[in-house]
Amino acid sequence: MLRHCLCHSAWHLAPSHAQRDRLDFYHGLLGVSETGLEDRSSLIVAIDGPSGVGKTTVASLVAKELELPYLSTGAMYRSVALKVIEQGVEADDREAVEEMARDIDLSLRLADDGQIEVFVDGEPSGDRIKGLKVAQTTSQISAYSDVRKRLVALQREWATRHGAVLEGRDIGTKVFPDTPHKFFLEAPTWVRVERRWLELRARGRTDLVRSEVEREFLERDRRDRTRPDSPLCHDETYSVIDTSGSEPWEVVEKIVAEVRAKSEPSAGGA
Ligand code: DC
Repeated sequence: MLRHCLCHSAWHLAPSHAQRDRLDFYHGLLGVSETGLEDRSSLIVAIDGPSGVGKTTVASLVAKELELPYLSTGAMYRSVALKVIEQGVEADDREAVEEMARDIDLSLRLADDGQIEVFVDGEPSGDRIKGLKVAQTTSQISAYSDVRKRLVALQREWATRHGAVLEGRDIGTKVFPDTPHKFFLEAPTWVRVERRWLELRARGRTDLVRSEVEREFLERDRRDRTRPDSPLCHDETYSVIDTSGSEPWEVVEKIVAEVRAKSEPSAGGA
């Protein structure tokens, strides 16, 4: 029962009509589109956490509810990794990767659905960044400081102009440490591994061996948490939410309510 609930496929689905109606009702009660969040261009919502906690699902729905652009910063690191692979640069050649990251033609554009798309050399990265090889390379190159500097500068420049919900590993610790809206999503390791495994199979990767997927997942997790520059972590300025026993919409509701409460003029927040 618990396992069924924790690994529920709802984490990868669009909201049902019932969920939508419920949130519309809630939305109306809170008046999210009305006063209080009027100046959305200054609103920065940071959603951090490890792989497999449901960050993408939650962050993109939170962005819709708050009518803010949504940026997956992981997609930016993955886009650099894609270029590293395409150019035949060795991922462990730090100097070569950092040089490429300094020169890369990387831009962000707002799509009609509110998502911010990453473009490399004028081409959208799209689904090309979703494979396992890209994930492995990303895990290596995201540890390099000059890669991070370049991408963090772009994240700050873009989000400061428009306001945004940003999803990543270091948004509340490094990119926007002063935002009052910081959320750290977590879930037990086995739940995260299970979600990733189901996600890969849903994408047709039935050839993969589970133990191998698990080993790589845990290795990437370890790297994200232990790298010297901007390791995955959180402090007391974050609201920590365990997503394992909840439906995505419950987590979204919690975050939207908290942002709304802190954004009311009387709350003295952003
Ligand atoms: O969120 P994701 O799975 O798309 O992230 C891919 C990789 O990028 C992951 O190994 C961690 C890294 N990353 C990072 O170092 N900092 C971020 N802000 C976002 C992602």
